Amino acid sequence: MTTFRTSKFPVLIIGGTGKTGRRVAERLTAQGVPVRIGSRNASPAFDWENRETWAPALECVSAAYITYYPDLAAPGAAEAIGDLARLAVTKGVKRLVLLSGRGEPEAQRAEAMLQASGADWTIVRASWFMQNFSESMLLGPILAGEMALPVSTVREPFIHAEDIADIVTAALTDDRHIGQLYEVTGPRALTFAEATAEIAKATGRPINYATISPEEFMQGLEQEQVPADIAALINELFTVVLDGRNEYLTDGVQKALGRAPRDFTAYARDAAATGIWETAK
Ligand SMILES: NC(=O)c1ccc[n+]([C@@H]2O[C@H](COP(=O)([O-])OP(=O)(O)OC[C@H]3O[C@@H](n4cnc5c(N)ncnc54)[C@H](OP(=O)(O)O)[C@@H]3O)[C@@H](O)[C@H]2O)c1
Repeated sequence: MTTFRTSKFPVLIIGGTGKTGRRVAERLTAQGVPVRIGSRNASPAFDWENRETWAPALECVSAAYITYYPDLAAPGAAEAIGDLARLAVTKGVKRLVLLSGRGEPEAQRAEAMLQASGADWTIVRASWFMQNFSESMLLGPILAGEMALPVSTVREPFIHAEDIADIVTAALTDDRHIGQLYEVTGPRALTFAEATAEIAKATGRPINYATISPEEFMQGLEQEQVPADIAALINELFTVVLDGRNEYLTDGVQKALGRAPRDFTAYARDAAATGIWETAK
């Protein structure tokens, strides 16, 4: 069995400064596997918007973890994944692991592009990350004590970014994950109001939850000067993808790692303990 643990060539982690990439980099480094961070600020730089950066980033790497930005649901994402995967394979980088999303036709098209590229592929098709509340777009509303989203009763089985990182690290270092598509969720589906309430309990601070219209949501994003294309994408994720299609739980974490996924209550407790949700007194 081939293992990259012994390779002197680094693993390229595209999005290596992001929520899952950073955690994968930490794990591989701890195992003694060299990593190359794929980032617009790295050297060599990697930028999805500048294809000339792709080949230098893929030079002399043993494998790659691919996270697309801003979202695989964005127009052109599937073609970018297909083009990058084929380029990687022609450069001899066959071992590719893709982070994907559930219930998004464009994400599923990107998966098919990877599968058709000739790569030794693994796909991790994930639900919404718990860390969106602590490391991403939902952190601001938590700190402000006011969460207002265009979603009410639909439940999402949020997954812990550490579980994704565990699976991706395993996939990058163990050939038995080649050709596997792991659809992964947390162990419990919560509404966004319930998730917010869990965080309020963990922080000991009241956090109000309000369901607003997609129009009000878009106005808010505009006020925060979120670029129009990103705002439209975020709105689509809330209003189209969060229609109930993803409310079911899956056993992807169990299948990939032989253990249960982490729960939201533990996530909220641990994140609160880091002080990330503390506000200035
Ligand atoms: N968040 C979720 O709940 C979720 C759920 C399922 C699937 N996904 C998928 O996960 C992927 C990543 O989403 P995320 O929310 O987890 O983001 P993230 O990885 O936390 O995003 C930040 C990363 O993207 C990089 N980045 C930003 N613009 C870039 C560009 N033009 N070229 C190259 N890298 C760029 C940043 O690197 P630098 O700033 O250092 O360049 C950083 O490493 C998406 O494809 C999404 O579909 C997300």
